[in-house]
Amino acid sequence: MPHRPYIVGNWKMNGSRAMLAEARAIDRAAARLTDVQVALAPPFPLIAALREAVTAMGVGGQDCHQQPKGAHTGDVSAPMLADAGADFVIVGHSERRADHGETDALVRAKAEAALASGLAVIVCVGETLAQRDAAQAEVVVAAQLDGSLPQGESAVAALPGKIAVAYEPVWAIGTGRVAAVEDVVIMHRAVRARLVAAYGEAGELVRILYGGSVNAGNAADLLAAVGVGGALVGGASLSADLFLPIVAAAASATEA
Ligand code: PGA
Repeated sequence: MPHRPYIVGNWKMNGSRAMLAEARAIDRAAARLTDVQVALAPPFPLIAALREAVTAMGVGGQDCHQQPKGAHTGDVSAPMLADAGADFVIVGHSERRADHGETDALVRAKAEAALASGLAVIVCVGETLAQRDAAQAEVVVAAQLDGSLPQGESAVAALPGKIAVAYEPVWAIGTGRVAAVEDVVIMHRAVRARLVAAYGEAGELVRILYGGSVNAGNAADLLAAVGVGGALVGGASLSADLFLPIVAAAASATEA
Protein backbone atom coordinates (compact mmCIF):
# COMPACT_ATOMS: atom_id res chain seq x y z
CA MET A 1 0.00 0.00 0.00
CA PRO A 2 1.50 3.34 -0.98
CA HIS A 3 0.41 5.10 2.22
CA ARG A 4 -1.11 4.15 5.51
CA PRO A 5 -4.63 2.85 4.99
CA TYR A 6 -7.18 5.60 5.39
CA ILE A 7 -10.39 4.89 7.31
CA VAL A 8 -12.89 7.73 7.16
CA GLY A 9 -16.22 7.90 8.93
CA ASN A 10 -18.97 9.92 7.27
CA TRP A 11 -21.62 10.79 9.82
CA LYS A 12 -23.89 12.23 7.13
CA MET A 13 -26.83 14.12 8.74
CA ASN A 14 -26.39 12.34 12.05
CA GLY A 15 -24.84 13.31 15.34
CA SER A 16 -25.03 15.79 18.17
CA ARG A 17 -22.62 17.13 20.74
CA ALA A 18 -23.41 14.09 22.90
CA MET A 19 -21.92 11.89 20.19
CA LEU A 20 -18.51 13.52 20.61
CA ALA A 21 -17.93 10.87 23.30
CA GLU A 22 -17.90 8.28 20.49
CA ALA A 23 -15.43 10.40 18.57
CA ARG A 24 -13.15 10.66 21.61
CA ALA A 25 -13.14 6.87 21.97
CA ILE A 26 -12.31 6.52 18.27
CA ASP A 27 -9.57 9.11 18.67
CA ARG A 28 -7.95 7.24 21.56
CA ALA A 29 -7.70 4.15 19.38
CA ALA A 30 -6.41 6.21 16.45
CA ALA A 31 -3.63 7.48 18.70
CA ARG A 32 -2.55 3.88 19.36
CA LEU A 33 -2.97 2.53 15.83
CA THR A 34 -0.51 4.83 14.13
CA ASP A 35 -0.27 2.59 11.03
CA VAL A 36 -3.79 3.68 10.11
CA GLN A 37 -4.94 7.19 9.21
CA VAL A 38 -8.33 7.73 10.84
CA ALA A 39 -10.76 10.57 10.21
CA LEU A 40 -14.36 11.59 10.78
CA ALA A 41 -16.57 13.92 8.78
CA PRO A 42 -19.41 15.11 11.04
CA PRO A 43 -22.14 17.57 10.04
CA PHE A 44 -20.95 21.19 9.77
CA PRO A 45 -22.13 22.33 13.23
CA LEU A 46 -19.94 19.72 14.93
CA ILE A 47 -16.68 20.33 13.07
CA ALA A 48 -15.21 22.89 15.45
CA ALA A 49 -16.26 20.93 18.54
CA LEU A 50 -14.86 17.70 17.09
CA ARG A 51 -11.58 19.46 16.32
CA GLU A 52 -11.36 20.48 19.99
CA ALA A 53 -12.28 17.00 21.20
CA VAL A 54 -9.70 14.95 19.32
CA THR A 55 -5.96 14.96 18.71
CA ALA A 56 -4.98 11.97 16.59
CA MET A 57 -7.67 11.80 13.93
CA GLY A 58 -8.48 13.95 10.94
CA VAL A 59 -11.61 16.11 10.91
CA GLY A 60 -13.46 16.89 7.72
CA GLY A 61 -16.54 18.34 6.07
CA GLN A 62 -19.01 16.41 3.94
CA ASP A 63 -19.29 19.07 1.25
CA CYS A 64 -18.19 22.62 0.47
CA HIS A 65 -19.29 25.37 -1.86
CA GLN A 66 -17.06 26.08 -4.83
CA GLN A 67 -16.85 29.81 -4.04
CA PRO A 68 -14.89 31.12 -1.05
CA LYS A 69 -17.69 33.44 0.13
CA GLY A 70 -20.75 35.30 -1.01
CA ALA A 71 -24.52 35.27 -1.32
CA HIS A 72 -25.15 31.51 -1.11
CA THR A 73 -27.59 31.04 1.74
CA GLY A 74 -27.08 27.82 3.62
CA ASP A 75 -23.80 26.93 1.99
CA VAL A 76 -20.39 26.58 3.63
CA SER A 77 -17.13 27.34 1.84
CA ALA A 78 -13.81 25.53 1.93
CA PRO A 79 -12.01 28.39 3.72
CA MET A 80 -14.76 28.29 6.37
CA LEU A 81 -14.20 24.57 6.88
CA ALA A 82 -10.48 25.16 7.22
CA ASP A 83 -11.16 27.99 9.67
CA ALA A 84 -13.36 25.67 11.76
CA GLY A 85 -10.47 23.22 12.00
CA ALA A 86 -11.19 20.78 9.20
CA ASP A 87 -8.29 19.14 7.37
CA PHE A 88 -10.26 17.64 4.50
CA VAL A 89 -13.61 17.59 2.75
CA ILE A 90 -15.62 14.91 0.98
CA VAL A 91 -16.92 16.07 -2.41
CA GLY A 92 -19.26 14.45 -4.90
CA HIS A 93 -20.85 11.97 -2.53
CA SER A 94 -23.65 10.18 -4.39
CA GLU A 95 -26.19 11.59 -1.92
CA ARG A 96 -25.07 15.12 -2.91
CA ARG A 97 -25.10 14.19 -6.57
CA ALA A 98 -28.63 12.77 -6.23
CA ASP A 99 -30.20 15.16 -3.69
CA HIS A 100 -28.64 18.37 -4.98
CA GLY A 101 -28.09 17.59 -8.66
CA GLU A 102 -24.32 17.97 -8.37
CA THR A 103 -22.58 17.46 -11.69
CA ASP A 104 -19.05 16.27 -12.33
CA ALA A 105 -18.02 19.83 -13.25
CA LEU A 106 -19.38 21.16 -9.96
CA VAL A 107 -17.67 18.41 -7.99
CA ARG A 108 -14.38 19.31 -9.71
CA ALA A 109 -14.86 23.00 -8.86
CA LYS A 110 -15.52 22.09 -5.22
CA ALA A 111 -12.45 19.84 -5.10
CA GLU A 112 -10.28 22.59 -6.57
CA ALA A 113 -11.69 25.14 -4.11
CA ALA A 114 -10.91 22.79 -1.25
CA LEU A 115 -7.32 22.22 -2.35
CA ALA A 116 -6.83 25.94 -2.86
CA SER A 117 -7.87 26.40 0.79
CA GLY A 118 -5.30 23.89 1.96
CA LEU A 119 -7.81 21.11 2.61
CA ALA A 120 -7.34 17.55 1.40
CA VAL A 121 -10.18 16.09 -0.66
CA ILE A 122 -11.96 12.78 -1.03
CA VAL A 123 -13.67 12.67 -4.43
CA CYS A 124 -16.55 10.17 -4.51
CA VAL A 125 -17.69 8.22 -7.54
CA GLY A 126 -19.85 5.17 -8.08
CA GLU A 127 -22.43 3.59 -10.36
CA THR A 128 -26.12 2.94 -9.76
CA LEU A 129 -27.59 -0.55 -9.82
CA ALA A 130 -29.15 0.07 -13.25
CA GLN A 131 -25.76 1.10 -14.60
CA ARG A 132 -24.10 -1.99 -13.13
CA ASP A 133 -26.81 -4.25 -14.51
CA ALA A 134 -26.26 -2.68 -17.93
CA ALA A 135 -22.52 -3.52 -17.64
CA GLN A 136 -21.74 0.20 -17.56
CA ALA A 137 -20.10 0.43 -14.13
CA GLU A 138 -16.54 0.97 -15.35
CA VAL A 139 -17.57 3.41 -18.09
CA VAL A 140 -19.71 5.46 -15.71
CA VAL A 141 -17.07 5.65 -13.01
CA ALA A 142 -14.34 6.50 -15.53
CA ALA A 143 -16.44 9.36 -16.89
CA GLN A 144 -17.19 10.63 -13.37
CA LEU A 145 -13.49 10.68 -12.58
CA ASP A 146 -12.52 12.34 -15.85
CA GLY A 147 -15.05 15.08 -15.05
CA SER A 148 -14.59 15.37 -11.29
CA LEU A 149 -10.91 15.01 -10.44
CA PRO A 150 -9.31 18.32 -9.54
CA GLN A 151 -6.93 19.77 -12.08
CA GLY A 152 -4.44 22.58 -12.22
CA GLU A 153 -1.58 23.70 -10.04
CA SER A 154 -3.30 23.16 -6.70
CA ALA A 155 -4.07 19.55 -7.68
CA VAL A 156 -0.52 18.85 -8.77
CA ALA A 157 0.79 20.36 -5.53
CA ALA A 158 -1.64 18.21 -3.52
CA LEU A 159 -0.57 14.91 -5.09
CA PRO A 160 -0.55 12.26 -3.94
CA GLY A 161 -1.33 12.56 -0.24
CA LYS A 162 -4.04 15.23 -0.23
CA ILE A 163 -6.22 13.69 -2.91
CA ALA A 164 -8.14 10.44 -2.38
CA VAL A 165 -10.92 8.82 -4.38
CA ALA A 166 -13.77 6.90 -2.81
CA TYR A 167 -15.37 4.27 -5.01
CA GLU A 168 -18.86 3.83 -3.62
CA PRO A 169 -21.36 1.85 -5.66
CA VAL A 170 -24.65 3.66 -5.04
CA TRP A 171 -26.53 0.38 -4.55
CA ALA A 172 -24.18 -0.60 -1.71
CA ILE A 173 -24.58 2.59 0.32
CA GLY A 174 -26.68 2.15 3.43
CA THR A 175 -28.24 -1.02 2.04
CA GLY A 176 -26.21 -3.69 3.79
CA ARG A 177 -25.41 -5.00 0.33
CA VAL A 178 -21.66 -4.90 -0.07
CA ALA A 179 -19.89 -5.26 -3.42
CA ALA A 180 -18.12 -8.54 -4.11
CA VAL A 181 -14.39 -8.32 -3.51
CA GLU A 182 -13.69 -9.33 -7.15
CA ASP A 183 -15.83 -6.44 -8.37
CA VAL A 184 -14.15 -4.03 -5.97
CA VAL A 185 -10.75 -5.07 -7.33
CA ILE A 186 -11.91 -4.57 -10.92
CA MET A 187 -13.39 -1.17 -10.14
CA HIS A 188 -10.36 0.01 -8.18
CA ARG A 189 -8.17 -1.01 -11.13
CA ALA A 190 -10.40 1.08 -13.41
CA VAL A 191 -10.18 4.03 -10.99
CA ARG A 192 -6.40 3.70 -10.90
CA ALA A 193 -6.24 3.86 -14.70
CA ARG A 194 -8.12 7.18 -14.69
CA LEU A 195 -5.91 8.55 -11.91
CA VAL A 196 -2.81 7.72 -13.91
CA ALA A 197 -4.39 9.22 -17.03
CA ALA A 198 -5.08 12.41 -15.06
CA TYR A 199 -1.92 12.69 -12.98
CA GLY A 200 0.72 10.44 -14.51
CA GLU A 201 2.98 8.59 -12.11
CA ALA A 202 1.66 10.47 -9.07
CA GLY A 203 -1.73 8.90 -9.82
CA GLU A 204 -0.28 5.53 -8.82
CA LEU A 205 0.00 6.73 -5.24
CA VAL A 206 -3.42 8.29 -4.74
CA ARG A 207 -5.41 6.26 -2.26
CA ILE A 208 -8.63 4.67 -3.45
CA LEU A 209 -11.13 3.95 -0.69
CA TYR A 210 -14.03 1.56 -0.94
CA GLY A 211 -17.36 2.68 0.48
CA GLY A 212 -20.75 1.02 0.77
CA SER A 213 -21.97 -0.99 3.78
CA VAL A 214 -18.47 -1.52 5.17
CA ASN A 215 -18.72 -3.07 8.63
CA ALA A 216 -16.77 -5.11 11.15
CA GLY A 217 -17.67 -8.34 9.36
CA ASN A 218 -16.54 -7.47 5.86
CA ALA A 219 -13.78 -4.88 6.45
CA ALA A 220 -10.88 -7.33 6.64
CA ASP A 221 -11.65 -8.89 3.24
CA LEU A 222 -12.28 -5.55 1.56
CA LEU A 223 -9.18 -3.90 3.00
CA ALA A 224 -6.99 -6.82 1.99
CA ALA A 225 -8.17 -6.57 -1.63
CA VAL A 226 -5.66 -5.43 -4.21
CA GLY A 227 -5.84 -1.70 -4.79
CA VAL A 228 -8.02 -0.88 -1.77
CA GLY A 229 -6.32 1.87 0.23
CA GLY A 230 -8.98 2.34 2.88
CA ALA A 231 -12.69 2.72 3.49
CA LEU A 232 -15.33 5.42 3.62
CA VAL A 233 -17.79 4.27 6.25
CA GLY A 234 -21.28 5.65 6.85
CA GLY A 235 -23.57 3.79 9.24
CA ALA A 236 -20.79 1.89 10.98
CA SER A 237 -18.95 5.11 11.86
CA LEU A 238 -21.65 6.33 14.23
CA SER A 239 -20.32 4.49 17.27
CA ALA A 240 -16.86 3.53 18.44
CA ASP A 241 -18.03 -0.08 18.90
CA LEU A 242 -18.95 -0.36 15.24
CA PHE A 243 -16.11 1.73 13.82
CA LEU A 244 -13.07 0.54 15.75
CA PRO A 245 -13.13 -3.04 14.45
CA ILE A 246 -12.86 -1.54 10.95
CA VAL A 247 -9.85 0.53 12.01
CA ALA A 248 -8.35 -2.58 13.62
CA ALA A 249 -8.90 -4.55 10.39
CA ALA A 250 -6.98 -1.85 8.52
CA ALA A 251 -4.18 -2.09 11.06
CA SER A 252 -4.02 -5.87 10.56
CA ALA A 253 -3.99 -5.41 6.77
CA THR A 254 -0.79 -3.37 7.10
CA GLU A 255 0.84 -6.23 9.02
CA ALA A 256 -0.18 -8.88 6.49
P1 PGA B 1 -22.68 3.22 4.45
O1 PGA B 1 -22.33 4.63 3.76
O2 PGA B 1 -21.39 2.72 5.07
O3 PGA B 1 -23.73 3.54 5.47
O4 PGA B 1 -23.16 2.30 3.37
C1 PGA B 1 -21.13 4.81 3.07
C2 PGA B 1 -21.08 6.21 2.51
O5 PGA B 1 -22.09 6.69 1.99
O6 PGA B 1 -20.04 6.88 2.58
